[in-house]
Amino acid sequence: MNIVDPNSAIASIDWNDGSLRGPGIQQSEKTLGQLQAVFKDGEAFAAMDRTQVVYRVQWLSAEAADREGALLWGNTTLEPGKVGDEYFMTHGHFHLKRDRSEFYATVQGEGMLVLMDENREGRVEKMKAGSLHYINGNVAHRVVNTGPSQLRFVACWPADAGHDYGTIAEEGFSLRVVSQNGAPVVLRSNR
Ligand code: PA5
Ligand code: MN
Repeated sequence: MNIVDPNSAIASIDWNDGSLRGPGIQQSEKTLGQLQAVFKDGEAFAAMDRTQVVYRVQWLSAEAADREGALLWGNTTLEPGKVGDEYFMTHGHFHLKRDRSEFYATVQGEGMLVLMDENREGRVEKMKAGSLHYINGNVAHRVVNTGPSQLRFVACWPADAGHDYGTIAEEGFSLRVVSQNGAPVVLRSNR
């Protein structure tokens, strides 16, 4: 047996865009129609193509996902665009296991990472190529693309974290990112 196996990496990452290649990589996509609950301007939303893809996610599990301590690696590609004056964004979530933390790292594009704790205290971190973000447990997170091109980031998180989308669908975030005079502005929001 070779102690040094030249093909032992579980996958390969193209660092130009963060994309993954290799066996066992899973993928999903979210269309605008699946994100109706998150945008505030219903009239602008109704005039848009619900089938357009807003973001795609790839992820990779290297072992049984329910083992405490197992990690997942993934990436997200968020398209540029707006619904009314509000930029395209991910749905956003708390982790089902609330104390699970996560890393995000930006590969390309510009955006904002919107964070909110369980008391609805919110803040944002600017995302740009090379920015590394640590999302503490018990903190909901959403990414907003404020730029003219795709925003791409990679992520690493505990495999047993899970996604709680319901709380955000019902209560929303306490901050929204909108375009005013062509520049992103963060506004307080009650949902
Ligand atoms: O695990 C994460 O936090 C990310 O991989 C997100 O799931 C991804 O960015 C898509 O966002 P959301 O899960 O809020 O739809
Ligand atoms: Mn997460």
